[in-house]
Parts: sequence; structure tokens; C-alpha cells
Amino acid sequence: MSGNTPDREMTRLYVTGACEGLPELLEALGRHPELEVVGWSERVVDGAGPLTGGHLDVVVHATGSSELPAEELATIREYTAAPLVVVAAGEASRLLEEALAADVADVLLLPQLTENVVFALRKAGRSGRHMQRTTGTAGRVITVFSPKGGTGKTVTATNLAACFAKFGRKRTLLLDLDLQFGDAAIMLSIEPEKTIHDLVVAPGELDPEKLAGYTTRHASGIDVLPAPVRPEDAELVTESKLSRLLEVARESYDVIVVDTSPFFHGPMLATLDRTDTLVLVCGLEVPTIKNVRLSLQTLELLSFPTNRLKVLLNRANSNVGLKRTEVEAALEVKIAFEVPSDRAVPVAVNRGIPAVVNDSQSDFARAMRGVADSLLPADANAARRRWLPSLARS
Ligand SMILES: Nc1ncnc2c1ncn2[C@@H]1O[C@H](COP(=O)(O)OP(=O)(O)O)[C@@H](O)[C@H]1O
Ligand SMILES: [Mg+2]
Repeated sequence: MSGNTPDREMTRLYVTGACEGLPELLEALGRHPELEVVGWSERVVDGAGPLTGGHLDVVVHATGSSELPAEELATIREYTAAPLVVVAAGEASRLLEEALAADVADVLLLPQLTENVVFALRKAGRSGRHMQRTTGTAGRVITVFSPKGGTGKTVTATNLAACFAKFGRKRTLLLDLDLQFGDAAIMLSIEPEKTIHDLVVAPGELDPEKLAGYTTRHASGIDVLPAPVRPEDAELVTESKLSRLLEVARESYDVIVVDTSPFFHGPMLATLDRTDTLVLVCGLEVPTIKNVRLSLQTLELLSFPTNRLKVLLNRANSNVGLKRTEVEAALEVKIAFEVPSDRAVPVAVNRGIPAVVNDSQSDFARAMRGVADSLLPADANAARRRWLPSLARS
């Protein structure tokens, strides 16, 4: 896994397919200082892991055919929304025509000077990032995951969402992707009429207005999209539906907090592809630490960027014979946040109110607010609007 920071604007790419001249091109691209070639697989399906979880700026598909490889491109699209560049060898006039009509950012006919290819890839990668910034798809996706049940995923997700909505004044969606046994709604004591299941089986295209019709507003200001009521309905929430849901949610929310189940299933992979920050919840028990370590390995296999990963040590003050430094040594990763074990949490859970609201002066609430501020700094303008209304108008 690379430790590149996003401000260096490296272009992360993954390559699928094959054509004459591709091996030489791959070698040249791999040496280029502004590109990070995450990997290559001839068959698109073999690249499913990095394509879904890899946060790619651009995907390159190579073809020796003179026609657009529509099936392969459609498969790539199921995995990722990153811009697509097709490279082709040979006679390809028809391919160019077809690409114009399709969702392809660029077509390059080999052989080409490496610099030209690099320029086209960086341009496509940039346009994808630019689109994300300007077409309103700006909401940040914060996914809370742990490979163990009971470590505090739902407590963390609900309290972070409450911090963002109530104290940070962000438009906040809490998405419960613990599809079989989600309990975010219960922890917030809301009785929703609609769930994510109703949303995905509803006919027609999803857009922000439609999404708004399926969420339930919590008193703290969070919009909640709960898990299905019946566990068997979970499988209808497919990767493609979920990908679309996240894209639409980013248009209407500042932040989307995703609560999860302890598994890397399809919906989780689709979510990882769109996750800006992954909060990995760890505890002070050896089995949990072991599974968090395995999760880190899986994330590495998926090429999930390390700079998007934050480990949160829950119940960090528990006196159970393990220390933070020992956990860090076992995980080989620094712990980003510590949250204490606090009686305020189960009390709040049983009242159905997030602890940060129910007992805002508790140690837990203070720690959680710190986590929220660090993940998503409070909007300075919003604060000014609140305190200086006369200036806001000028
Ligand atoms: N920091 C904490 N202090 C005290 N109790 C906690 C804390 N974090 C979680 N808990 C307790 O652990 C239980 C399980 O947490 P939960 O968030 O439901 O786990 P998960 O979603 O990972 O399965 C909660 O009901 C809560 O009472
Ligand atoms: Mg949970």
C-alpha cells in the first residue's frame, strides 16, 4: 500500500485487458513518477478487488479489437465510477466512433509516446476529481467498520452522525448497511416507515428528491436510511443499487456516515470504493485485534489507500492488560483516535438518544466530538453565520 498524500495529485490507475504494445506501455507507466499503477489484470473480473476498493483516478482498458469492448466496460462500471480510458492497437476507427457515444473519457491508439499517454491519463483522472468537486457530488462518505460484532460500530456511527448534524450543522445522512441486523434506527429510537429495502425495490431512477422520500429525520437533525426490517431482504440491496445510492446521497448531503456489518461482502466493497474515510473500530481484546489485523490485510489486497484509513480504539481506557502501544505494534498501524469506555454510552443507548446529545459533558461525548471535528472540521462559515448574522448578509 502506498502512503502518497492526495495533495501530490498522483494519478492512481488500474489496467485491464490486453493488446499489442501493452506490456511495454505498462512498464513505462510503472516507472513514471506521477502515476501509481495499482495493478493489471487481463480479465476485468480478476481485477474486481482493486477496481472496487482501490480509489482509482482512472481505469485503463486495453483492447486489440476494432470494436468497443462494451461488455468489459460495463463490468468495470459495476465496480467503479472512475473515468475510463481505452487503449487500442491496430485499426480502430469504428472504436473511436463508438467511444464517443459511450462513457469513455479518452481513446488512445498505440503506439504512442509515453508522455502523451501519461498526459491523457492525468487529464482523465483530473476531470473525474473535478466532476466530484463541482457537480455537487461533494458529500464525504465516512464508513465505520469493524470485523467484530459489539466493538462499537453502531455507537460510533450514530454519535458521529449526531455530532455532524447537531454541532457541525452539516446535512447528514446515516446509512445503515448492517443489512441483516442493523440497529441504528433502534439506537436512535426512531420507527421508520421506510428502509433501504423499500428504496431499492421502488421503480424508477433514483434522484435526490426520491431519496428524501425514504429517509427519516431524527431529532438531532440526522436523516436516517435504516436497514431492511427482514434479514432476507438484505440481498436485494445490490452493489449497483448501493453505488447509485451513494452517488445520489453525495449530491444532497455534506456527509454520509455508513454503519456496517462485520463482513467484506459485495455492498461493503461497493461502499469502500466511495469511502473518503474508513473508521476501523478496534477494541482491547485479542480476538478483535487479530481480526482488525486481518481486515487491514484485506484492505491492502483491495489497494484501499492507507491515508483514508483511521483506526479508532474504543473503550481505550479499559484496564484489561493491553496498552495502546501493544495494539499499535500488533496492527502495525498508528491509532488515530481513542474513545473511552463510559457508562454514559449504555445509558444513552437504552434511552435511544446518542450519548453526545444525552450527556454532552461525558468523557465519551468529548472524545467523540473530537473525532468528529478531526474527520470533518466544523464549517467556519456556518459558525460565523450563527454568531454574526449582520455580517452574513453583507
Ligand atoms: N465507549 C463505550 N463505552 C461503553 N459502552 C460502549 C462503548 N462503545 C460501545 N459500548 C456498548 O457496546 C454495545 C455494542 O456496541 P455496538 O455499537 O452496537 O457494536 P457493533 O455495532 O460494533 O456491533 C453498545 O450497546 C454499547 O452499550
Ligand atoms: Mg452494529
